[in-house]
Amino acid sequence: MVESNAAAARSNSTDGAADDSSREPLIRVCAMSKIYRVGVEVIHALRGLELTIGRNEMVAIMGSSGSGKSTLMNMLGCLDRPTTGAYFLNGRDVSRMGAKELAMVRNQEIGFVFQSFELLPRQTALENVELPLVYSHGAWRGRRARALAALDRVGLSSRVHHRPNQLSGGQKQRVAIARAILNKPSILLADEPTGNLDSATTAEILELFRQIHAEGQTVIIVTHEDEVAAHCHRVVRLRDGYVLSDLPIAQDIAARHRAPSPQAAQSAANDTNAGVAC
Ligand SMILES: Nc1ncnc2c1ncn2[C@@H]1O[C@H](COP(=O)(O)OP(=O)(O)OP(=O)(O)O)[C@@H](O)[C@H]1O
Ligand SMILES: [Mg+2]
Repeated sequence: MVESNAAAARSNSTDGAADDSSREPLIRVCAMSKIYRVGVEVIHALRGLELTIGRNEMVAIMGSSGSGKSTLMNMLGCLDRPTTGAYFLNGRDVSRMGAKELAMVRNQEIGFVFQSFELLPRQTALENVELPLVYSHGAWRGRRARALAALDRVGLSSRVHHRPNQLSGGQKQRVAIARAILNKPSILLADEPTGNLDSATTAEILELFRQIHAEGQTVIIVTHEDEVAAHCHRVVRLRDGYVLSDLPIAQDIAARHRAPSPQAAQSAANDTNAGVAC
């Protein structure tokens, strides 16, 4: 059996401000697969992946390079569609939505932060943060005040007119976080957000994520670093496109120190591949 104690992890997280009247979790991924075709090569990036994430959780996604972490984040962030399987966000099956509806959900519900910051180099910090409002119906009015407030929220009030090449790595990531939280999304997705940062700056960025989570948001962070995962309440480990283990942080750390035999790991893999009814 896949090591799973997600419910215990969820009970560790505080209740968010989000509407909890329905029993539907915020995220429910059912038997999700993603197949890429490159020439004659067929790549199974996700293989029948099952995952449930509740409101106001703070979750780390870990796994070796190529295990499917970014592919999963692209699916959760509605940037791409699964080949098979379903993805329910707030109870709605987004895997069946049309492009327009999907873009709207993405704009309202999701904030993204990437390792490489993804800022427009010629725009100032303020203009970069305002960007999501360009695509947000009716939100253009008052955009400047909202963007300034978001920059203030991440401690960058004194750098609003700086361009990315005039900012440090940590400051660039703060701009990216301000842009990501501007629309007050339900979910903040961060793919290796501290991968390009030194340890002091990493600690500052993690503190920011902790605060955002404490304000009620769901935060999902892909990372290779144990130090980053230790700030989350739950660790989901992927291998070859499926969930290898899903544990509260304390149990994940304990499990790593137990160092399973290769046979046990293979057995867990086989059990997981059998799939769980959604
Ligand atoms: N657009 C794509 N076209 C073809 N193959 C892809 C594409 N994106 C990802 N893959 C493949 O899918 C698999 C999973 O890739 P993914 O980027 O999700 O891994 P990852 O866990 O994020 O790795 P890393 O830790 O290196 O970022 C890899 O084998 C990768 O080569
Ligand atoms: Mg990746």
